[in-house]
Amino acid sequence: MPHFLDINKTTPEALRHMIDNARAIKDARAGRPKGMADDDQPLAGHMVALIFEKPSTRTRVSFDVGVRQMGGQTMVLSGADMQLGHGETIADTARVLSRYVDLIMIRTFEEATLLEMAEHATVPVINGLTNRTHPCQIMADLMTFEEHRGPIKGRKVVWSGDGNNVFASFAHAAGQFGFDLVFTGPPPLDPEQVFIDEARAKGVNVTIERDPYKAVEGADLVVTDTWVSMHDPQSARERRHNQLRAYQVNEALLARAKPDALFMHCLPAHRDDEATSAVMDGPHSVIFDEAENRLHAQKAVMRWCLDV
Ligand code: CP
Ligand code: NVA
Repeated sequence: MPHFLDINKTTPEALRHMIDNARAIKDARAGRPKGMADDDQPLAGHMVALIFEKPSTRTRVSFDVGVRQMGGQTMVLSGADMQLGHGETIADTARVLSRYVDLIMIRTFEEATLLEMAEHATVPVINGLTNRTHPCQIMADLMTFEEHRGPIKGRKVVWSGDGNNVFASFAHAAGQFGFDLVFTGPPPLDPEQVFIDEARAKGVNVTIERDPYKAVEGADLVVTDTWVSMHDPQSARERRHNQLRAYQVNEALLARAKPDALFMHCLPAHRDDEATSAVMDGPHSVIFDEAENRLHAQKAVMRWCLDV
């Protein structure tokens, strides 16, 4: 079953095909009103379930619009409103949904929920974010880098801040696409070692540098994300702010990267915490291109899953 569960679980050839197809899909729609259908209607007659156990703006709207532009229909489901939130097993939910819909996208907490859904579904399942990874975001980010700067292979990407789920998918991508990755952040917020080891085993340099100014030297891309993720306890907020303040992406830090370095943030952002407004709205920032490219990249992911 062609699930899209993580970037390290999909072949480099399939990933490359999806990024290139996303570019073609975007180009084919250039200048069109948002409500106008794509010329191709590969999802005509298809029904897609979009399940959210956490909040979402970009993932929810970009999947919904993407399916509709490709001729399909969606149902957006809140985990809390389903029997899933009241004791029905994930396995039974997967078996039942597979009788009604052609594709399932789920945003959830535990990775185990996603994996159980995929194991028991008889239709493809897409990871719309778990506590551990966020592969659809990184597909959009790679597409965005390449449309501005050409191939990502051999480039230097620097992540400043919390070693979270979005970092983890960047680490998966480093191994699959062949770019170097530097993590800069405080030791308590280091990423899981397995993500680093796995990328290194694929021959790329993944390093940890505690000094953010040293870390960003020569960077082609500087990335950050919220200091407190949706699955983190709000009680951690003050401690995290103290731990991460030195890793804020501001103009002084970005000035140490390459002159043409790009700045990315998956959004939603807490302006002037993890990144200053001057950086987010400045000349290096491509944050809204990233958000737009969720739409195009996920269309390519859905087409790959359904082989249409
Ligand atoms: N970047 C991202 O996944 O945003 P949402 O939480 O709004 O979906
Ligand atoms: N790391 C963030 C990403 C949000 C899109 C979170 O999990 O809340």
